[in-house]
Amino acid sequence: MFKFGFSNDQEEGSECQADDSSKAALNWLDSEELYPTKSQWEEVKNLPKYRFDIKECTIDFVSVKDSVNVFGKENVDFFKQTEQLNSDLLPAKYEGGLKIWECTYALIEHLAKEDIKFEGKQVLDLGCGAGLLGIFTMLDGASVTFQDYNTEVIEWVTFPNILANLPGKSMQDLEKRCRFFKGDWASFLDLSLKEIDSEDKKYDVILSSETIYNSDNHWKLVRVLKSLLKKSGVAFIAAKTFYFGVGGGLRQFEKLLAEEGNMDVSVCWKCSDGVQREILKVQFKNG
Ligand SMILES: C[S@@+](CC[C@H](N)C(=O)[O-])C[C@H]1O[C@@H](n2cnc3c(N)ncnc32)[C@H](O)[C@@H]1O
Repeated sequence: MFKFGFSNDQEEGSECQADDSSKAALNWLDSEELYPTKSQWEEVKNLPKYRFDIKECTIDFVSVKDSVNVFGKENVDFFKQTEQLNSDLLPAKYEGGLKIWECTYALIEHLAKEDIKFEGKQVLDLGCGAGLLGIFTMLDGASVTFQDYNTEVIEWVTFPNILANLPGKSMQDLEKRCRFFKGDWASFLDLSLKEIDSEDKKYDVILSSETIYNSDNHWKLVRVLKSLLKKSGVAFIAAKTFYFGVGGGLRQFEKLLAEEGNMDVSVCWKCSDGVQREILKVQFKNG
């Protein structure tokens, strides 16, 4: 039996199960670049905003429910389906991006505390969901690629949150600073490699939060890190140490990174209150 259901959320009784036959039949979606429209830009202005304050930075974000009423009218069934899930996942259909996961906050706090500078950097927010990690770096001057599995997640929460954080800026500013891709990591990598054909086009920083829960997908994440991170770059991966009921864990992931990715991995933050969470710092050996 193959189970989904996150450790932390297990306590809240959330769990979804899929047997091995459904796992074998999973059909992962192809990657594609998505573009926000002018009308989305206008409509975001009218949505109520919530705030996350961190040091001198304030990140605005919208609630999914508000946003779905505006942007999700044509696909409200998808939203209802995600709300009715016992877990936060519907494997290969919906991978949890509509909600903001706790490791996102931990990673933003860590980046702020370490005073890491992003101005002029190329950043990839991998499995971005609401996109707060990328937005944090964008507000410090980074150009950011936001990647999520679901078109709905990008259109309902990632776009609106980015637009909410760029008041007074134009669509051209947005296009210069941000790109958006939906679809599976393996396909995203293939698509990216069509244009990322030299070291200077790779990412200075890759950020990813709560994406290692499915060990079947670890190889895809490792390939993305290995192929798209600059030799001098750094990646931060924030996650629960182990996802009970799902199987993915950080020890397994860091072993694969070291073996397959030829990368140095260190734990740069750890918290054992409640479900244990960590942040991995990943760099190329001799990078
Ligand atoms: C648990 S959510 C975390 C979202 C966000 N990073 C956060 O911390 O709030 C996992 C994210 O990884 C993305 N994801 C999971 N599996 C993926 C895959 N195979 N390909 C691309 N994205 C994937 C999902 O779309 C989702 O947004």
